[in-house]
Amino acid sequence: MSLIFPSPTAGLCFLLAFAACSPAVSAGPSHITSGQDLAISRCGGCHAVETTGESPLAGAPPFRALARNYPVENLEEALAEGIFAGHPDMPDDPWEPADIQRLIAYLKTIQTP
Ligand code: HEC
Repeated sequence: MSLIFPSPTAGLCFLLAFAACSPAVSAGPSHITSGQDLAISRCGGCHAVETTGESPLAGAPPFRALARNYPVENLEEALAEGIFAGHPDMPDDPWEPADIQRLIAYLKTIQTP
C-alpha cells in the first residue's frame, strides 16, 4: 500500500517547500488573504469588498473606493474603539489589533483611484 503514496506526497512537499521558501510570497499573501476573509465575513454582507462588483446594500460604499475620501489607515482607530459614526447597522464589536492590520493591509491592495 505505502508504495502508492511516495510520489504524490513528494510532489506536495515540493510545492509546500517552494511556497514557504520564497520570501516575496510568504509574508504577503497569507496576510492579505486573511484580511480578505475578514472583510468578506464581517463587512461583505453590505459592502463590495473585492476589486469589482456592487455593494449588496445600496448606499454602503465599495471598499475599493475608500481611499478616495481618506487614507484607509484612518479606519484603524474607529475599528479599535468599536466606533463607527454615521454608520447604521455597523457591527461595533471591538477588533483585535492584528485583525485590524490584516484588514487594512487588504484594503490597500484593492483601492482604485
Ligand atoms: C449592515 C450593513 C453594514 C455592514 C455589515 C458594514 N457596513 Fe460599513 N457601511 C454601511 C452603510 C450603509 C454605509 C454608508 C453609511 C453612510 O454613508 O451614511 C457604510 C459606510 C462605511 C464606511 C464609510 C464611512 C465614511 O464616513 O466614509 C466605511 C469605512 C465602512 N462602512 C467600513 C465598514 C467595515 C470595515 C465593515 C466591516 C467591519 C463594515 N463597514 C460593515 C453598512 C454596513
